[in-house]
Amino acid sequence: PRPILLTRHGESRDNVRGRIGGDTVLSGSGEIYAKKLANFVEKRLKSERTASIWTSTLQRTIITASPIFGFPKIQWRALDEINAGVCDGMTYEEIKRNMPEEYESRKKDKLSYRYPRGESYLDVIQRLEPVIIELERQRAPVVVISHQAVLRALYAYFADRPLKEVPHIEVPLHTIIEIQMGVTGVQEKRYKLMD
Ligand code: F6P
Repeated sequence: PRPILLTRHGESRDNVRGRIGGDTVLSGSGEIYAKKLANFVEKRLKSERTASIWTSTLQRTIITASPIFGFPKIQWRALDEINAGVCDGMTYEEIKRNMPEEYESRKKDKLSYRYPRGESYLDVIQRLEPVIIELERQRAPVVVISHQAVLRALYAYFADRPLKEVPHIEVPLHTIIEIQMGVTGVQEKRYKLMD
């Protein structure tokens, strides 16, 4: 059975500063993760000639994929991180201080809360539909390099987790989630490549 490997991009400069959204490059440790990931993928998929690497259109995923050689790379806008609208580039602290109502309504219902001029988790889940259809059609392994909210939604779909859990699923940085769809159901392995 073919594996699907899910991973967030390497740590970005905005991750370090606690800023959401944006389109920054990687931090030093993010760069190290990109190299370790390339190593892992080359070993894990050595015998798989037709595997492909899917990224979002944001720099941090494209840069994370860049040390991986020998596989075709595809950019999907549908894999871009949740659009935080007017809150893009802010820290959670800043949102809490400057837009307390927004902060509270998101806390109350993180699944359906939509950022002003941005998206909700439900919006993200909806735009992922074509990606999921394409993933299910693939006969070869796929490495998906994307973002926290998007990977929560993708993971929940394959692991059959309830909708209400989606915004709270743990998808840590620098960790690969390998999903195998077999006859006996879905199997999962996690590889933490660094701290
Ligand atoms: O902080 C990294 C990040 O990918 C942000 O860009 C994004 O807004 C956030 O995580 C999504 O996580 P949460 O829904 O928990 O805010």
